[in-house]
Amino acid sequence: MIEDYLGKAFAGETRCADLQEAMEYSLLAGGKRVRPVLTLETCRMCGGDIQAALPFACAVEMVHTYSLIHDDLPAMDNDDLRRGRSTNHVVYGEATAILAGDALLTAAFEQLTRASLPAQRIVEAVQCLSHAAGSAGMVGGQALDMAGEGRALDRTDLELLQSLKTGALISAAAELGCIAAGGTCEQRLQVKAYAQALGRAFQVRDDMLDVTSSQEELGKSVGSDQANEKSTFVTALGLEGCAVLVEQLTQQGIEALSSFEAPDFHIWLARSLAQRTK
Ligand code: IPE
Ligand code: IPE
Ligand code: MG
Ligand code: MG
Ligand code: MG
Repeated sequence: MIEDYLGKAFAGETRCADLQEAMEYSLLAGGKRVRPVLTLETCRMCGGDIQAALPFACAVEMVHTYSLIHDDLPAMDNDDLRRGRSTNHVVYGEATAILAGDALLTAAFEQLTRASLPAQRIVEAVQCLSHAAGSAGMVGGQALDMAGEGRALDRTDLELLQSLKTGALISAAAELGCIAAGGTCEQRLQVKAYAQALGRAFQVRDDMLDVTSSQEELGKSVGSDQANEKSTFVTALGLEGCAVLVEQLTQQGIEALSSFEAPDFHIWLARSLAQRTK
């Protein structure tokens, strides 16, 4: 459903051909689709219709893809491989890569308004995604990440940095599913607690894979954190400490869903991501 929707999202639009190609180059390059799947499955878990949540799910993936294009730019992590392909700026140049990111971010909010859902839920979705994507969320975390280069950050600093740069968008993905379903405040709080723990575990695992994995397996550059002198959970806790933390966070996330009737998918997702190799 997600691949199909994303594949058609920009079809038939007349805009600068190079820009459209650059947007689709990164958006349709695969990727695990963790965030949009989380939106759909959270909608289902909260009793909603996943078809109606699809524009919300794809909006999150557009914001995420934009964040990756900009994260790879020379001014940021300066990486040349992403989703098994040369990075966007390597193929299209920096100016087009910046614009492709800008356009995906903007398109995400247009997508939210396309959902066939009550206007109140769409307003809540706009509030949720804009807050998570902006300076109080992902962009704020990326700013802390850049400011931390070459400095030894302690665990408290790292927790804030990672919960903003990665946790916020993963949490928004899950919350958007709850919003689409018209879930209760209580459901939303539980979903949020689950996704924040999942998001933190996800970034700790990402830091581990940057050290332990290979380009072939990950489809993106490895060793990037060390090359950029980043403080990560690996530098703070070591690989073994990271593995323990991922387990703790995964368990904490699963426990947050104890009052849902059928959180099977979410439990499976948390456990699989804790062991992921890409
Ligand atoms: C990579 O995210 C960036 C981080 C937040 C760690 P993903 O690991 O979800 O990347 P894709 O979407 O599968 O390419
Ligand atoms: C970036 O974290 C998270 C984003 C907001 C894009 P990383 O810089 O560790 O992500 P990767 O390892 O390049 O995917
Ligand atoms: Mg980065
Ligand atoms: Mg990076
Ligand atoms: Mg990384």
